[in-house]
Amino acid sequence: MASLFSWITLFVLFCSVSSELILEEGYTVTTVIDGHKLNINPHSVLARPGSSDLLLLDFSNSHLYTVSFPLSNESEVKRISSEEKLGYRDGKLGLARFNKPRSFAVDGKGNVYVADRGNHVIRKISTSGTVSTIAGGLSKAIGKKDGPAQNATFADDFELAVVAERCILLVVDHGSQSVRLIDLKPEDCTTTSPSAQIFGLGAVTVWTLGLGLSCFLGLFVGILVRPYIIPHGDSTLIRFSKKGKPCLINLGKQVAILCFGIRSAIANFKLYTLLQKLFYCC
Ligand SMILES: *[C@@H]1O[C@H](CO)[C@@H](O)[C@H](O)[C@H]1NC(C)=O
Ligand SMILES: *[C@@H]1O[C@H](CO)[C@@H](O)[C@H](O)[C@H]1NC(C)=O
Repeated sequence: MASLFSWITLFVLFCSVSSELILEEGYTVTTVIDGHKLNINPHSVLARPGSSDLLLLDFSNSHLYTVSFPLSNESEVKRISSEEKLGYRDGKLGLARFNKPRSFAVDGKGNVYVADRGNHVIRKISTSGTVSTIAGGLSKAIGKKDGPAQNATFADDFELAVVAERCILLVVDHGSQSVRLIDLKPEDCTTTSPSAQIFGLGAVTVWTLGLGLSCFLGLFVGILVRPYIIPHGDSTLIRFSKKGKPCLINLGKQVAILCFGIRSAIANFKLYTLLQKLFYCC
C-alpha cells in the first residue's frame, strides 16, 4: 500500500515537472560562421551600435575578426588584429596582439573593451582603431588589487560588461568571485554613434532641418501657383480664381501631405540612417 502511494506521488511529481515545459514555435537556427572551414574558434561576439559588422573574438588563437552584416554563411570574415598569435602589443589595431582575450564590451561611443586574460589587463580599442591598456598595465600580475587602474590586478579568468547609461565598466572576476567597477570617461558615454558625431547632428537638429525643408518647399510651391489663384484686378483672373478655389484647397492639402511625408521620412531617420551607414563604412 505504502509503495503504491509512493508510486502515485512519483507519477504526480513527474507530470507536474514535465508540464513546466513551454515549447514556443517560430524560431529557426542557421549556422552563419563555420569555424572549421575558416580555421577560427569563435568564443564571443559583439554588435557595436551603428556598425556595419559584428566583432568576433577567437579566444584560442587570440585573434579579433569582423563579420559583415547581414549575417549569413557568405558574410565577409576579416581578421583585424595582428596576424601573429599570442602577445602583448598596443597601438594600431592591425598590429596589436592579445593573449587569450576572454570577452569584450562596447561603450556608448563605440569603444571596445577587451578582457585580455593572458596578459591580466583590460585593453581598449578606440573608435579610431587604436589599442591601449586601461587597467593592469603596470602590475601585469594575477591578483585582486583595487585602486588606480594601471596598478590594479585581476584574476586569470574575468569577463567584462558595460552599463552605458551608468557610464561604467564591470569586471566579473571569476577567479576572486567578485564584480568590480571601473568608471568610464564621460566623453565615452555619449549615446550618439561615431558617424552622428562626424555629422555633428543630433535628433533635434535633424527634425528642425526636416521642418525647415518642408516649409521651404511649401513656400516654393506657393510662389509658383500664386499668379493663378490671387486676383490682380483683371476680371478674367478673378473668374479663374473663383473656379480655382477648390483647386487651391486641394493644392494646399497636397502640399501639407507632401510636407508631412518629408518631415516624417527625415524624422524616421531612414535617409539619415542610410547616410550614417555609408559614412561609417568609409
Ligand atoms: C550557405 O547556406 C545555403 C543555405 O543554407 C546553402 O545552400 C549553401 O550551400 C551555403 N554556402 C556555403 C558556402 O556554405
Ligand atoms: C603603481 O606601480 C608602479 C610600478 O610598479 C609604482 O611605481 C607606483 O608607485 C604604483 N602606484 C601606486 C599608487 O600603487
